[in-house]
Amino acid sequence: MENKFCDGRLKMSFELRIIAAYSDNRVIGKNGNIPFNFKADKNRFAKRTEGKPIIMGRLTYKSIGRVLPNRYNIILSSNPSYEVEGAYCATSFDEAVEAARADFESEEEVAYVVGGERVYRRALESPLLTRLELTEVHIDVDIKDGDKVTYFPEFGPEWVVERREEGTYTRNKGGVMVPYSFVDYVR
Ligand SMILES: NC(=O)c1ccc[n+]([C@@H]2O[C@H](COP(=O)([O-])OP(=O)(O)OC[C@H]3O[C@@H](n4cnc5c(N)ncnc54)[C@H](OP(=O)(O)O)[C@@H]3O)[C@@H](O)[C@H]2O)c1
Repeated sequence: MENKFCDGRLKMSFELRIIAAYSDNRVIGKNGNIPFNFKADKNRFAKRTEGKPIIMGRLTYKSIGRVLPNRYNIILSSNPSYEVEGAYCATSFDEAVEAARADFESEEEVAYVVGGERVYRRALESPLLTRLELTEVHIDVDIKDGDKVTYFPEFGPEWVVERREEGTYTRNKGGVMVPYSFVDYVR
């Protein structure tokens, strides 16, 4: 592949991490949105990804609706003409990883893969992937005919729990308490 990055230097030590929130029926997205939305999860996402490159698919970028600040945003699309101001657009997963690895503005030697389904699936095949930082929301997301649903891929038994923290959030005003777990997996 043609090297588009600075003088060709790449960080020697580099790892990928996945961060995602999914339900008991493995749903990450429904009709272009995330079907759960709570502060503790947003804070965890911000805290862990700030200052680091983030890699996402075009539809995840569309669902966020803006380039996230204080992070090098790398957006995947097969369309080489696709451009987003303030972000790097890559046409393959390998190019996205190389862009993250060539980000010498940040001293971090890690990039986060932030979705969606196809990008998570591809990241799970990467030998650079070291951690899954998951929010497991203990509900089954309701799915109706015609809903466009995306899922978190199954992952193998080589992934073991390093750390687990339980919590609950309140859905809707004065509504149902929903239990969740923040779980970090390593292999
Ligand atoms: N719960 C969570 O943690 C979480 C996280 C992220 C997203 N989501 C949700 O997931 C949904 C979006 O995810 P999605 O799976 O539908 O879409 P997505 O993965 O965000 O985007 C898919 C698009 O990205 C591009 N793409 C992906 N992999 C590529 C590759 N290897 N090479 C080149 N281009 C690639 C393609 O764009 P082109 O069509 O332009 O080629 C593809 O159509 C939304 O509902 C969002 O809210 C949830």
